[in-house]
Amino acid sequence: MRTALVAGNWKMNGDSGFISELMTGLKTDVPASGVEVLVCPPSVYLSQVKVQTEGSVIALGAQNVSEQKNGAFTGEISLSMLQDLGCEYVILGHSERRSIYAETDELVAQKFIATVETGLKPILCVGETLAEREADQTLEVVGRQIRAVVEAAGIEAFADAVIAYEPVWAIGTGKTATPEQAQEVHAAIREMIAQSDAGTAAKIRILYGGSVNAGNAAELFANEDVDGGLVGGASLKANDFVAICQAAGA
Ligand code: 13P
Repeated sequence: MRTALVAGNWKMNGDSGFISELMTGLKTDVPASGVEVLVCPPSVYLSQVKVQTEGSVIALGAQNVSEQKNGAFTGEISLSMLQDLGCEYVILGHSERRSIYAETDELVAQKFIATVETGLKPILCVGETLAEREADQTLEVVGRQIRAVVEAAGIEAFADAVIAYEPVWAIGTGKTATPEQAQEVHAAIREMIAQSDAGTAAKIRILYGGSVNAGNAAELFANEDVDGGLVGGASLKANDFVAICQAAGA
């Protein structure tokens, strides 16, 4: 039995006042059981959010991290820093990192390995573009993105990992994958992991991301292989995010 996970990816949004208000709303209203709740603020606000999560069930995660341990890497943030600030999870290989900042499968794999070695839990994002879906390449693309990490890190590294399927065409567009489209890809991802280890495949949580909102969350999460969501825009509204968490915990 997999416990659902709902993660809010705030991306580059908010300021200290906005975040304080959002966290106040979330803290009192997110379900206390049946679902794991995670927020991933911009890294400069991790300390503030950590303080605000105290006494709540809300876990803390980062949106990205350096693959390097420390040293002369201006502007980068290390895994030990995230750990120091109380982060439990790190989002890796988000499509915005891949497409805007040219992160390759190889770099994502290095970050994944470093994350697991440090003792944090990676949320590995995968997903196809609209052109790739229209060319019927969805499973090929997602397979390549997952294999790159499995081959570099080894399947053992997936013991505490989470995978997020985020079709690029559904991110921030208001276009959501249908429950059938999501289930098809999620089942295929679980099967890809099962080819390396059936136990890990049965245990690993696969989140759906891409225009999840309070209205569509329940039908997406009702699918057998959809174990929660990675939520962008709707995670910036306390009521909507709480409703999504409730849908996952129901
Ligand atoms: P939206 O929920 O805004 O489509 O963003 C999804 C996402 O990219 C989460 O990582």
